[in-house]
Amino acid sequence: MGLTFIAIKPDGVHRGLVGEIIARFEKRGLKLCALKVVVPEKAIAEKHYEEHAGKPFYPGLVDYLCSGPIVAMVWSGKDVVAVTRKMIGATKPAQSEPGTIRGDLALDMGRNVIHGSDSDDSAQREIKLWFKEEEVCSKYVKA
Ligand code: CMP
Repeated sequence: MGLTFIAIKPDGVHRGLVGEIIARFEKRGLKLCALKVVVPEKAIAEKHYEEHAGKPFYPGLVDYLCSGPIVAMVWSGKDVVAVTRKMIGATKPAQSEPGTIRGDLALDMGRNVIHGSDSDDSAQREIKLWFKEEEVCSKYVKA
């Protein structure tokens, strides 16, 4: 069973989309292993998005993530990274298919509701960045 890191961004929390998003993942059969509501510290947000450092949108992206509460989560399941990426939909709004979270709920690339790890390596790195080991209850998840 793999793990992935998912964050509902400030716009998703502010718009009251937390329950809907969690329900989609639960109905798909994924298991929630960790969850916290947090206003990110700038240093953590910078590290989270470090692959985008130097890009023109990076400072705004970091500031935006720190602008209010996010819901940080760890989800578990078979092929969880690929499955959640598909459920989240494409980053560019015009390319996110209806039926995906972004395709149904977002219209702006900078306010796209949700983040999901894009590989197993990113998932490991992001889970470690946002959670202490003892906060992740993956060993209790039944297949
Ligand atoms: P996310 O999946 O969190 O990963 C990186 C984020 O950067 C992405 O969602 C978008 O919110 C944001 N992003 C990517 N490209 C751009 C862009 N060209 N302009 C503004 N924001 C972007």
